[in-house]
Amino acid sequence: MAKKIALVTGANKGIGFETARQLGKEGITVIAAARNKENGIKAVETLKNEGFDIEFLQLDVDKDTDIQFAFDYINNKYGKLDILVNNAGIQIESGDWGLNTSTTVSDKVLRQTLDTNFFNVVKLTNTLLPLIRKSDAGRIVNLSSILGSLKLHSEVGSPIYGSKLFAYDTSKAALNSYTIHLAAALADTNIKVNSAHPGWVKTDMGSDAAPMDVVDGAKTSVALALLDAEGVSGKYIHLGNELPW
Ligand SMILES: NC(=O)c1ccc[n+]([C@@H]2O[C@H](COP(=O)([O-])OP(=O)(O)OC[C@H]3O[C@@H](n4cnc5c(N)ncnc54)[C@H](OP(=O)(O)O)[C@@H]3O)[C@@H](O)[C@H]2O)c1
Repeated sequence: MAKKIALVTGANKGIGFETARQLGKEGITVIAAARNKENGIKAVETLKNEGFDIEFLQLDVDKDTDIQFAFDYINNKYGKLDILVNNAGIQIESGDWGLNTSTTVSDKVLRQTLDTNFFNVVKLTNTLLPLIRKSDAGRIVNLSSILGSLKLHSEVGSPIYGSKLFAYDTSKAALNSYTIHLAAALADTNIKVNSAHPGWVKTDMGSDAAPMDVVDGAKTSVALALLDAEGVSGKYIHLGNELPW
């Protein structure tokens, strides 16, 4: 059987790095993408030394030229893509848990957050889709967050009701909409598309206060990347459980 090829964005650190490691452990060829060359190469060297089949690709999801290069590179080298983990993401609002940034967020922050976490995920995915269609079992994992749940945000007393980072939350809600729409568009194919909530994870974004470590934080992404033919599509998942949109 041909080896599976996976692309993980934002793989130089945090959940993306650990996702690349766990996919590597499965014997998958992992293209670990990062926007910063030095950081990306360093991460890939670490994982290579652990014995995995990993290579580095410079990919800033905000750069059209990088997205086109990713398509050309994967097309020329592998001719297909089995797994795309849209992991790269940003949370750049100033505001802690308990704040509501709806009335204070700047236009710049709102647009940058939507660009990286939503518009450019759509751009990258749709650019790579012809390669994913060539896979026997394409899997697309969109790193969302429970903070993208409109249902939970609208329910007073829900576990996330008190945290309203407007730009971030909106970007993940929009990403969830893409998951639903793309899964429906691909329903007659062998490609599955799902949103992952990794949990609140100790990373630069999640902070040291988070209860989960990256090993567990990567588990939802990896499980959705490795779904078998009976697996779900168009769902919003955290550690095997469905979340409400
Ligand atoms: N940690 C949590 O508790 C948590 C909870 C829910 C959802 N998530 C989601 O999980 C994903 C990973 O988060 P994390 O906690 O691992 O965050 P992190 O440690 O801050 O890592 C984010 C990664 O995304 C990359 N990135 C940001 N903008 C990029 C761009 N324009 N192009 C390419 N790469 C870019 C970063 O690269 P640089 O190193 O160059 O900045 C980094 O590799 C994100 O989508 C996040 O929203 C995290």
